[in-house]
Amino acid sequence: MRRITSSWAPLLLSLLLFFLVSSEGEVPMAPMQRTEQETLYLVIQDVVGKRWNGSQLYPDPCGWTQIQGVSCDLSDGMWYVTGLSIGRLLDSSLECAEDAAFSPLLFELKHLRRLSFLGCFSSHRQTTIPSRQWEQLAGSLETLEFRSNQGLVGEVPANLAQLTRLQSLVLVDNSLSGELPRELGNLAQLKRLALAGNRFCGYIPASLGSNMAELLILDLSRNSLTGSLPSSFGDLASLLKLDLSHNLLHGSLPPELGSLRSLTLLDLRNNELSGVLAQAHTLHRMVSLQDLLLSDNPLGGSLSEVQWENVANLTTLDLSRANLSGAIPESIAGLKRLRFLALDNNRLSGSVSPKLATLPSLTGLYLNGNNLTGELGFSDEFYRRMGRRSAFWDNPYLCHGSVGMPTGVEQCKQAQQTSNPQDVAAYDGNPDQSSSMLTSFVLPASSTSAWRGVGVQESVIALLLVMFWRRS
Ligand SMILES: *[C@@H]1O[C@H](CO)[C@@H](O)[C@H](O)[C@H]1NC(C)=O
Ligand SMILES: *[C@@H]1O[C@H](CO)[C@@H](O)[C@H](O)[C@H]1NC(C)=O
Ligand SMILES: *[C@@H]1O[C@H](CO)[C@@H](O)[C@H](O)[C@H]1NC(C)=O
Ligand SMILES: *[C@@H]1O[C@H](CO)[C@@H](O)[C@H](O)[C@H]1NC(C)=O
Repeated sequence: MRRITSSWAPLLLSLLLFFLVSSEGEVPMAPMQRTEQETLYLVIQDVVGKRWNGSQLYPDPCGWTQIQGVSCDLSDGMWYVTGLSIGRLLDSSLECAEDAAFSPLLFELKHLRRLSFLGCFSSHRQTTIPSRQWEQLAGSLETLEFRSNQGLVGEVPANLAQLTRLQSLVLVDNSLSGELPRELGNLAQLKRLALAGNRFCGYIPASLGSNMAELLILDLSRNSLTGSLPSSFGDLASLLKLDLSHNLLHGSLPPELGSLRSLTLLDLRNNELSGVLAQAHTLHRMVSLQDLLLSDNPLGGSLSEVQWENVANLTTLDLSRANLSGAIPESIAGLKRLRFLALDNNRLSGSVSPKLATLPSLTGLYLNGNNLTGELGFSDEFYRRMGRRSAFWDNPYLCHGSVGMPTGVEQCKQAQQTSNPQDVAAYDGNPDQSSSMLTSFVLPASSTSAWRGVGVQESVIALLLVMFWRRS
């Protein structure tokens, strides 16, 4: 007789027990309240379609016929549903039908800790987040996530604020609109609040800062939020990542933000902010900053307003298209961890310190579109190393002394005469000539497309790390 392999053994054992038990008409070994089980089937059916027959396909949903995306825990010897994750994560995930609906029966699953809908509600039929009954899950729900649901419309119901145990609220890339309810500020246990990629408008409620001392990640990016940054954000004592990019925010940094001493990412790209560098004393206090992204704002001012040695851990500094004037201070070359520096398309003038080339980790340098002058003193080796991740063109008074590099910058007159005396077209400082030269070059990728990576994708890892660290 063939030996039963060890991986089969548990399955066969479960089958055996199931048939033994059910033939006697008793409850199965892993008991589950009939109502809990029926509710689970009906909730799933409302989403995946009426043809899905739970009792037939998954007679023991927490036991030997587990459903992908459903997790259960034992409580007082009974199985309860504690996690429900609907939408395309894996091939075997529960997939939403075109007429998927949010079943109010969900609120009967009293042990539910994690609930998520991913790419579920399509634009064929619009759905809203239920505006009532969330208090029924207040005792259990810790994670609520609606992600990439194009058909999810309407406002964020204030009733969500009843979920006082919530640690993670993620409503990202849906079609939600309206103002953010100030009641969300009551969610005092939140570690992550991500409302990016919707159509939220109006002011950011001040309540979001005042009562959320546990918050690690706040992401309100890619909406249409207006007004200024609330000074209450200064109370977010644990905050690691703040992303308000791609909104319509104006004003400067409130001085209170200087209390965010754990903040590693500040992303305010693409807003209407001004005077941020003039608030240097606020930036100076954010000693943990690694990624400072302020591009596409009418910031104004000059780089020398900031004492860069106070934010020595910076790895990313993005100040493209920020209406900056003045020179590039040498202290920038003291940011030894810098990997990405984008100062392109400003009104910067003066010379470029060759010390920038000594930054050991630098892999992106964009200085194009300014009024920098003099000779670029970098080595050929430096240009080779940077390749297409650097740009210097569109600085009509800038020239270089090396051979054939860099793109869009002409050789300095003197260097050219010594290294290449037979060449007639010596640089004459005529900006028209240099910009017409530009068209004949293949332009490397812009700083905008080069900058990726940091941000909220990374934040999941950060969150896990921090939660782990806090536990141990
Ligand atoms: C599911 O299947 C069971 C057993 O085959 C059957 O009794 C039941 O009516 C079906 N339910 C639905 C909703 O089709
Ligand atoms: C800068 O980073 C280093 C290494 O990650 C860390 O030890 C140091 O505490 C950081 N400095 C500040 C001011 O956060
Ligand atoms: C840029 O700054 C100058 C003053 O330094 C100001 O006059 C001008 O309006 C600003 N431009 C924009 C687009 O904000
Ligand atoms: C750019 O710099 C040159 C040389 O220093 C100066 O003559 C010119 O006025 C500047 N242009 C602008 C637009 O600031």
